[in-house]
Amino acid sequence: MKKLFSFLLFALCFHAVKAQEAKAKQLVDKMTLEEKAQLVVGVGMHIPGLTPAAKFKAKVPGAAGQTFAIPRLGIPSIVLSDGPAGVRIEPFRNGDSSRSYYATAWPVATLLASTWDTTLVKKMGVAFGSEIKDYGIDIILAPAMNIHRNPLGGRNFEYYSEDPVLTGNMAAAIVNGIESNGVGTSIKHFAGNNQETNRNTVNTIVSERALREIYLKGFEIAVKKAQPWTVMSSYNKINGTYTSEEYDLLTTILRDEWGFKGMVMTDWFGGKDPVAQMKAGNDLLMPGRPEQTKAIEEAVKNGTLDMAVLNRNAERILETIFKSPAYKNYKYSDKPDLKKDAEISRTVAEDGMVLLKNNNGALPFNKNVHNVALFGINGYQLIAGGTGSGDVNKAYTISLEQGLTNGGYRIDANLKNDYTNYLQSEKAKRPKKNFMQEFMHPTPPIGEYVVDNNIINKQANDDDIALIAIGRNAGEGKDRKLEDDFNLSDTERTLIQNVSNAFHAKNKKVVVILNIGGVIEMASWRDNPDAILLAWQPGQEGGNAITNLLNGKVNPSGKLATTFPMKYDDEPSAKSFPGKEFPEQATSGLFGQKSVPAEVIYDEGIYVGYRYFNTFNVKPAYEFGYGLSYTNFAFSNLKLSSKEFNGKIVATVDIKNTGSVAGKDVVQLYLSAPSKKLKKPSEELKGFAKTDLLKPGQTVSLKFTIKPEDLASFDTKSASWIAEAGTYTVKAGASSTDIKQSADFNLKKDLVVEKDHNVLKPQVEIPEFEK
Ligand code: BGC
Repeated sequence: MKKLFSFLLFALCFHAVKAQEAKAKQLVDKMTLEEKAQLVVGVGMHIPGLTPAAKFKAKVPGAAGQTFAIPRLGIPSIVLSDGPAGVRIEPFRNGDSSRSYYATAWPVATLLASTWDTTLVKKMGVAFGSEIKDYGIDIILAPAMNIHRNPLGGRNFEYYSEDPVLTGNMAAAIVNGIESNGVGTSIKHFAGNNQETNRNTVNTIVSERALREIYLKGFEIAVKKAQPWTVMSSYNKINGTYTSEEYDLLTTILRDEWGFKGMVMTDWFGGKDPVAQMKAGNDLLMPGRPEQTKAIEEAVKNGTLDMAVLNRNAERILETIFKSPAYKNYKYSDKPDLKKDAEISRTVAEDGMVLLKNNNGALPFNKNVHNVALFGINGYQLIAGGTGSGDVNKAYTISLEQGLTNGGYRIDANLKNDYTNYLQSEKAKRPKKNFMQEFMHPTPPIGEYVVDNNIINKQANDDDIALIAIGRNAGEGKDRKLEDDFNLSDTERTLIQNVSNAFHAKNKKVVVILNIGGVIEMASWRDNPDAILLAWQPGQEGGNAITNLLNGKVNPSGKLATTFPMKYDDEPSAKSFPGKEFPEQATSGLFGQKSVPAEVIYDEGIYVGYRYFNTFNVKPAYEFGYGLSYTNFAFSNLKLSSKEFNGKIVATVDIKNTGSVAGKDVVQLYLSAPSKKLKKPSEELKGFAKTDLLKPGQTVSLKFTIKPEDLASFDTKSASWIAEAGTYTVKAGASSTDIKQSADFNLKKDLVVEKDHNVLKPQVEIPEFEK
């Protein structure tokens, strides 16, 4: 019965898709060449301070782009808006201050990944999608899912993780959630866009294997599990060709190998040659420039672009438009339920914060904690999310100070006064800049406030506990730097040291809260405080969420989605990031900017993140998958369905809350594979699951299915995914190094799991790391 039902559903969907395809074909047949060339190019955008005011009237002010409408054929313009952490639109319109158009600021993607909870992330996606629809947006330019290759990556906060399996499953969950509302997503930036330095010119030189296993894998999972409406190609080149002009990436791999059915769009102003983009299968050029339309039309006329290619791209855009709310004439309310969504934003934030240190039960606060000495400027101004297109215009942000006050704590008034005065006077000194000025020349962050030691000593006397908030912000267009960013500034270090000394002298606790979007150095100062809570950039409800963890209303259950090294130089990409520039070959680029060619060589190959740290025995400060709880858990009973691999293996493991408060935990399933022909990382994540809230004493059993593709690696020589015969070890871990249970199975014969193509070959020899 179930089988019959799924067959009928499949047949129905298949029929509906075929009908849409036929409808698109018929419409394209009716279009003139000029109309087709217009449809494949967006209508442009107005960039304040850079381009003249746009001629078109934006359907939704502040949205990033729109497609071309052809009213005579009933084809509407659809609206595309950023971005991963919330609907990015203008909060006010036409000078009308009587109402606002604020959107929910969700926690950033790295926090979402740190929840390790795809059910929760999907639930957030459902709420996010309804806000997208309520504001008249057809496609959200999210999720962003590039790999954290290096901790200095300026957009890492927008991305999930250093691991493609975690990345791909998170992206699939949010895409499925958002799209359940009948609006679209655009998984981005496809692919190899792992840095911001020279992002529009950089040539990412990477081996086929590393590309397949690390940088494409997450996209592959998202495409196969969620079939998003659209994919956004990236700015960079891969092995010599702009991704938006690379047929083998956008067609051979994405469509032929993975079965992607949707539309591909460029990143904004991405790539150079519109005709090459059309041929590659980059259907839509965004935000769109009239020269691109002209070039495409011209190319068809002079025979350098086949009309069939243009037709195919136009059809794929139409098939996307047919699904959109705009096409269905959906009457959007402009009134999302921001109150309900704020609640969801807060609960997700609570689930993704990671407790890194907790000595002698410093947390949760004991009942004698009433008066809090709150140090650090970021205690008074929460960084809800990063900058650039990943930012959101939100109605409010709950600072830690407000969150603690809401939680019934008294914030030391003198200290608060000092900090707020300092922040006010520093802000007043900052020049006013428009979006583009700020984008090109970002104002440096306000430096940490220097607190006199006498004041610190006084606070240690007056207050029950010290909290120190350390903040970091970054965003598109720029990578982070080592000094005063990855590494703490001298002022921050001194503050942590002095506050710890003074409060410890009075037998009082010190807690550091990290309000950061990316990895920082911790090894040199982590011994000072009693506890450290990694709050990430937690969205607009951050202060409330942090408070709920500090006071134990919520038990921390987040785990690191990315490694924190002991020092920057321990990173496998420390030497090669962000590559080199060729200024002597500079040409003039868009908007009068210089375009400087550059390249970066991924010589660490597949050894990214824990794959490197584990295999090469380099001890990190906090490993991938790590995170503490206020309770304890025990893993037991790891069982495999068979000792012999025969198509699949089912692994089950029990997990018990052995502590005294309720909590959730994550089981991470790693696999160690034999390595004769191909080198393998010592372990790789293949599955994960988060428990529900377990009461003290409660046990659950979790189940994982290991499939042939989980055993396989990409063999470049044969262009196929192969699993080598031998012994495989399944490891159930509380982190990538804290393996609690393991069990072996055997694969009798080598297995060719999938045959693909040898494409996107590097043009040069890459001196990859060897173990
Ligand atoms: C970013 C994209 C974004 C687009 C539209 C680009 O600069 O790289 O992530 O979606 O702008 O705002």
